[in-house]
Amino acid sequence: PKQAQGQRPQFHITPGFGWSNDPNGMLQYKGIHHVFFQHTINDTVFGRQHWGHVASTDLVYWTRLPTALYPDQSYDTNGVFSGSASIYQGVPYQLYTGVSRFYELGFYYQVQAVAVPANLSDPMLVDWVKPASNPVVAGVPVGATNLQFRDPNTAWYQDGAWRIAVGTQLNCSGTALLYSTQDFQNWTYTGVLASQTGLKPDGVCADGGEGPTGSCNQFGSGCRMWECVDVIQVGPVMVIKWSDEVHGRDPFSRDWYVLSSTNASVLGNMTASAEGSFRPGVNGSLNYSPRAVDYGTVYASKFWRDASQRQLWIGWTFETSAGCSPAQCSTGTGFTDAQGYQGAQTLARLVTYDPEIEELVFYPTEESQLLRNLQQSNRLDELLVSGADPEGMSILGKHVSSTQHMYDVDIAFKLLGGAEGLQPFSVGLILLMGADTDEGVRIHLNGTAATFSGQTKVTSLSILVDRRDAPAPSNTSYGGGFDGGPVSLPEEGVSSNELQLRALIDNSLLEVFAQGGRGRVTSRVYSLAVDEQWDVRAFGSFGSGSIEITGAIWGMDSCWKDSIELESHR
Ligand code: FRU
Repeated sequence: PKQAQGQRPQFHITPGFGWSNDPNGMLQYKGIHHVFFQHTINDTVFGRQHWGHVASTDLVYWTRLPTALYPDQSYDTNGVFSGSASIYQGVPYQLYTGVSRFYELGFYYQVQAVAVPANLSDPMLVDWVKPASNPVVAGVPVGATNLQFRDPNTAWYQDGAWRIAVGTQLNCSGTALLYSTQDFQNWTYTGVLASQTGLKPDGVCADGGEGPTGSCNQFGSGCRMWECVDVIQVGPVMVIKWSDEVHGRDPFSRDWYVLSSTNASVLGNMTASAEGSFRPGVNGSLNYSPRAVDYGTVYASKFWRDASQRQLWIGWTFETSAGCSPAQCSTGTGFTDAQGYQGAQTLARLVTYDPEIEELVFYPTEESQLLRNLQQSNRLDELLVSGADPEGMSILGKHVSSTQHMYDVDIAFKLLGGAEGLQPFSVGLILLMGADTDEGVRIHLNGTAATFSGQTKVTSLSILVDRRDAPAPSNTSYGGGFDGGPVSLPEEGVSSNELQLRALIDNSLLEVFAQGGRGRVTSRVYSLAVDEQWDVRAFGSFGSGSIEITGAIWGMDSCWKDSIELESHR
């Protein structure tokens, strides 16, 4: 089926041409923000990986730069895989995974290598060189394998040495291995940081169980690999994040994290052990249940800090159209809906620790608002929707943009006048994809609210993106066209009757946030009604009560700039 140009995301990072996946090596250098990404430059299916490169002065408007890393050495001839930036003595070091042998079964021989800028005075970091000391990390401990050994994270300094974590499969369990160095050239293995097995209270996996707590593996049985491990400190908590590939990139392949109050200093004193010394749980309570970074189509995400030490995050969002088996979906074969490119990056999200729910919160940076086109905005003031009418619906924005479906919608819903006791509610947005149709994507905040003595408080909440009523192919996408998950609430005393929903709609890419980033769902949505308009509507129902809806919708600009004006950044 044909796809109109209008479906390619325009304010998210995509490659000019070719397949793309994981974000890599993000850093800010001499004022310029850099994002690299996994890139097959000559084909729209997964192939020999390079590092694509874009740069920005503000994290939202980007310029495409030449390919940064090529698979041109004996140790990376079959792919320059994922990695991260560390700044050591003022020099940006890109630690990445080199793939040197390809087996038809899909196994790659993996080592870690380093690249440094050819010209440190170039803020654009266009040229990179690979020192002769490569590969710098080649050895794995007994029980691990170089066929599953990749994605070094950003190094941290602890107890007199720089440390990195590298993901592997150790005795069939997803595991993060620790390495340390003094000079970024010579690295030593120092032990296991954490493993899927070790995260269980008793260290025992109930194989075959379902769900994050049921077994060591998130879903079903089988050996796992931890890809794209990150280790970061956010406020008072230490975070380990990993990507759990299940079988191809199906909806259960997700990014997970656990938190710990463990003082990061213990990491420096590690000795090898089966389960590692990271102990999840905050404030003395043990919590072994991994949390999802995003309940939608995000994988292989990565954290970094900008020059002002803000904790930032970007993830890869992949195609999910009908017609590809899980194996095909991980390689791109069978996709029909993206032309000339595959894969996009989310917007940069600011990451903070929220002590009220003891979780991380991810929300688009303030800079994302720079993309709003103020000539194309509508404000909605205190519209009251009767809770008695579940169809109670209002047109929020119609034909905001004539050619592209690019919007930012930020809406507040207030639950009012509920009957005493507990009642369900449902509020949200409908994106009607095409004129004269009720086919569309439904974004829901569903839950229950308790009203006592006239005071209403939300007591349970979930976020859902329902594409089942959207036109094909979105409705047949993975997950049956359905993404979502729970949104944690602060304890009752702090909870309120207010709900917030933000949706960033970029043609075929949808990022949805609830409650300031306590809930997150990223989805790919496609419409065959490509030349038509999308209406954006807000709705709400709350038993016999009513809902006050306020908010705004903005048209969004493209993020692409031909070049970067450098003068002010030198
Ligand atoms: C995650 C991943 C990484 C690897 C890269 C290869 O999506 O499999 O583990 O480095 O993609 O492109």
